Amino acid sequence: MRITDALLGEHAVLHDLFATLRDIAGRGGEIAEIRGAVLVLERLLVAHARVEEELLFPALDPHLGRTGPLMVMRAEHRGIDDLLDAARVESDPTALKATIADLLDLAAGHFAKEERALFPMARRFLDEATLTALGGRWAQRRAVVVDAAGCGG
Ligand SMILES: [Fe+2]
Ligand SMILES: [Fe+2]
Repeated sequence: MRITDALLGEHAVLHDLFATLRDIAGRGGEIAEIRGAVLVLERLLVAHARVEEELLFPALDPHLGRTGPLMVMRAEHRGIDDLLDAARVESDPTALKATIADLLDLAAGHFAKEERALFPMARRFLDEATLTALGGRWAQRRAVVVDAAGCGG
């Protein structure tokens, strides 16, 4: 499996989680309920960004340079981290909802850039063997079995 396909699959799950959090915050959920949803989102989002920063981005650095799109992507990851930190300590419900709205806007925009620009660039600049090898490292980290030889009987 190509790493770009694996990351797109993670985006699909995270898109759902963004919508869930937006619903909870939007219908005026209890602060504890909102915090619980933010904790789950934080764990998944941070792990997702780490895979991108440790596997995909370094493979693209020689092709794209450390400036340009990769600089933007890394800066947006830091921006997401900062908003997650702010959400963790915010105790005022109105301010917490505003922080979450900013977080979801930034994350959704970031995902759109990756899906429309960065991942297509990765598929253009990296050959199939590299994309698949990185996908193998993703599977190992995520403890997912991608290629179970012999399952066909
Ligand atoms: Fe990202
Ligand atoms: Fe991503």
